[in-house]
Amino acid sequence: MPRAKPVALVTGGANGIGRAIALHLLAASWRVGIVDLPGRGLRHAFRGKSNTVLVEGDAREQETPALAVATLVDRFGRLDGLISNAGIMIRKPLRRLTLDEWHRVIDTNLTATFLFARAAEKELRKARGAIVTIASTRARMSEPDTESYAASKGGLVALTHALAVSLGPLVRVNCVSPGWIETRNYAALRRGDHAQHPAGRVGKPSDIAELVAWLLDGERSGFVTGADFVVDGGMTRKMIYAE
Ligand SMILES: NC(=O)c1ccc[n+]([C@@H]2O[C@H](COP(=O)([O-])OP(=O)(O)OC[C@H]3O[C@@H](n4cnc5c(N)ncnc54)[C@H](O)[C@@H]3O)[C@@H](O)[C@H]2O)c1
Repeated sequence: MPRAKPVALVTGGANGIGRAIALHLLAASWRVGIVDLPGRGLRHAFRGKSNTVLVEGDAREQETPALAVATLVDRFGRLDGLISNAGIMIRKPLRRLTLDEWHRVIDTNLTATFLFARAAEKELRKARGAIVTIASTRARMSEPDTESYAASKGGLVALTHALAVSLGPLVRVNCVSPGWIETRNYAALRRGDHAQHPAGRVGKPSDIAELVAWLLDGERSGFVTGADFVVDGGMTRKMIYAE
C-alpha cells in the first residue's frame, strides 16, 4: 500500500520564509496547512494550489491552533509536521518600548509556539512527527533597540529543547536560527551586503526551506532533536573589531 502523503502546518506562511517553506513542502508532495493573519495575502499566495488548507487567524490566540489542527486533521486525517514560523520585530529604544509592544512580540514569536505545540501534540505523537521552530541569530547576538525580539528568540531556542525532551522519542523538535534572509528584493542587494558574509552571499528563503524539509523527514534526520541550526552564511562566526 502506498504511504499516505505527510501533512504539515506552517504558521505565518502567507509571506517570506513561511511561504517558501510551505511551497517547498508542497513541491515535495506534502499536504500543507497555512495559518496567517487576515489581510496578509494568504489566499492570494496559495491561489490555485491543491493540497492546501488556509486558516486566517492570529497565532497568539488560543483558538487559532485548535482550529488549524482540527481543520487539517478533518481534511487530511493526520499531522506530521509543525513549523512555527510566524514572527514580528519591533525595533525601538528601550525607554520608548511599551509593555503592550513587548507583549505583542513575545506572544507572537514565543507564546504562539507553545500554543501550537500544545494543540498539535496528540496528532504529532500519533504520526511520530516533528516540530521545527524558526528563531534567529538574534537569540545570541544583538543590534541596539531589539530587546523584545532578542528575548523572544532566545526563549524560542530554549522552548525548543524543552519540547524535544518532553515529546521525545515520538516527536522530534528542532530549531532553525536564520541570519539575514532576504525575502523581498534579492536583486537589489549591494555587493557589500553579500561580501560581508563568510559564505559570500545573503541568504534566501529556500536556504531555510531546504533545512526545514530535512528536519521534518524522520528517515533522514531521525537522530536529530533538541538542536538549533544556525543558517547565517557564517556571520555569527565572524570576529569584528573596528580599525
Ligand atoms: N528574514 C530574515 O532575515 C529573518 C532572520 C531571522 C529570523 N527570521 C524569522 O523568520 C520568520 C519569518 O520571517 P520573514 O522574514 O519571512 O517575515 P515576514 O514578515 O515576511 O513574514 C512573517 C509572516 O508572519 C505573519 N504573522 C505575523 N504575526 C502573526 C500572527 N500573530 N499570527 C499569524 N501570522 C502572523 C505575517 O503576517 C507574515 O505573513 C520570523 O519568525 C522571523 O523572526 C527572519
